[in-house]
Amino acid sequence: MPEDAAGKKERKISKAFQPYVDAEWGLKNYWYPALFSSELAEGELKGVKICGVPIALRRAKGKVYALKDECIHRGVELSARPMCLTDETVTCWYHGFTYDLASGELVSIVAAPDDKMIGNARLRTFPVEEKSGMIFVFVGDEDYKTPPLSRDMPHRLPEDYEHRVAHPLDDNAVLLGIHRTGNSNWRLAVENGADTGHLFIHLDNPLVMALDRQLPLGAIAESEDAISWYVDDDAPKGIVNEYTKYTPVLENKVVGLKVKGKNPWKGGRTSMFLPGVLLVENWPDYRLAQYEWYVPIDNEHHEYWEIIAAVCNTEEEKKEFEIQYENLWKNLALGQGFNDNDLFAREQMQKFYGHHSGWTDEVLCSLDAYVIAWRKLVAQHNRGLAEVPERG
Ligand code: FES
Ligand code: FE
Repeated sequence: MPEDAAGKKERKISKAFQPYVDAEWGLKNYWYPALFSSELAEGELKGVKICGVPIALRRAKGKVYALKDECIHRGVELSARPMCLTDETVTCWYHGFTYDLASGELVSIVAAPDDKMIGNARLRTFPVEEKSGMIFVFVGDEDYKTPPLSRDMPHRLPEDYEHRVAHPLDDNAVLLGIHRTGNSNWRLAVENGADTGHLFIHLDNPLVMALDRQLPLGAIAESEDAISWYVDDDAPKGIVNEYTKYTPVLENKVVGLKVKGKNPWKGGRTSMFLPGVLLVENWPDYRLAQYEWYVPIDNEHHEYWEIIAAVCNTEEEKKEFEIQYENLWKNLALGQGFNDNDLFAREQMQKFYGHHSGWTDEVLCSLDAYVIAWRKLVAQHNRGLAEVPERG
C-alpha cells in the first residue's frame, strides 16, 4: 500500500462514503431497466436478476407484470421453463403452483386444486413501468412507497436550453440501443461512466477519428462548482460535470501525447443520477444524447445498458434516426468504436476491487473529483443498500 501523502489523504476521505463501499449488491428502492419492450413478446416470460433478486417478467394482453422468479414451494425459477396456462396467471413448471400475475396470490395448484394453501399464500410482485421501448422494474422493499419513474432518471433539461437533448420520458424521444453483461461490480461501471480522467483511453477510437473530435486526454475540475449537485427533495438526485468549468488537457509533453482532433465537443456535459444513470449530452453527435444504466446483477456483474436518444417529431425523423443508428452509431458509439474500451477498463478494475482491498488501497488524484462526488452522493442520498442475498 503506497504511503505517500496523497494516498493517506484519500484513504481518510473514503470513510466519508462508507455506505457506498458497503453497497456491493447495489442500491435498493429504485427503478431499473429490465428488458427492452421488443425483448418480451405477447405471452412471453423471461427472467432477469437485479441487485441479486431474481425477477420473472411476463407480458399478457399487452401489459407487463413482474414477480419474484422463485417459486414459494421449492424455490425453482419460474423462468427456467416458462408455463403460462391462462392470461392472468403463471404456473410453476415443477408441481404446478399457479400465481395471479397482478397480485402474486396462489390461485391454484395443478394437481391439488383443493389445497388449503390456495388463497392463503402469495409470491412477491414488483411495480413495472414501460416507457419509450424499455421495461423498468422497481426493486426494493415491498412496503417502500414507490416513487414515480421520473425520479430515478437524469433531470430534464429546460425546454429553452440552447443545447437541449431528448429525455427518455419525453413523448417525442426515440431510444435505441443495446444491453450486455459486464464482468465487474456495478460501482466500477458507474465510476467509469462519467470519469473525466479516463478520456485518453478513447484517443484513437474510431468514433473520435471519424468525427475528428477533439476529445481531451482528460479534464481537471478547477473549482468545486465544476460539479453541480442536484439534491432537491422530490426530484432526481445526481451530479453534473460542467465541462465549461473544467480545464481540458490536450497535450502531455512528458509522454509525448497530443490530441489530434479539431472539432470541439459542442454542448458537452456528463451527469450521473441515482441509482447510476449516465447522461452524455450532445453525444455521440450534436442534439443526440447517450444514456447508460449500470444495473447491478450480483456483486461481480452488471447489466450494461447503452442507449442513444433523439428527439423525433415525425415518423420520417424517426425512420431517419433508426437508419443512422443501425448503420453508424450502433458500432461507432456503442460497440468496438468506443464503449468496448470502457467495458474493458471496468473488467480490469474488478481484479483490484473485487477482493475489497481496492477501496482502501486505491490512490486517487486530482482527476478524481467526479468519482469522489459520486461516492458522496450515494453515501448521503441513497434510499437503501441492497442486501446480500441468502442464496447466491
Ligand atoms: Fe414450484 Fe414445486 S417448486 S410448484
Ligand atoms: Fe469512456
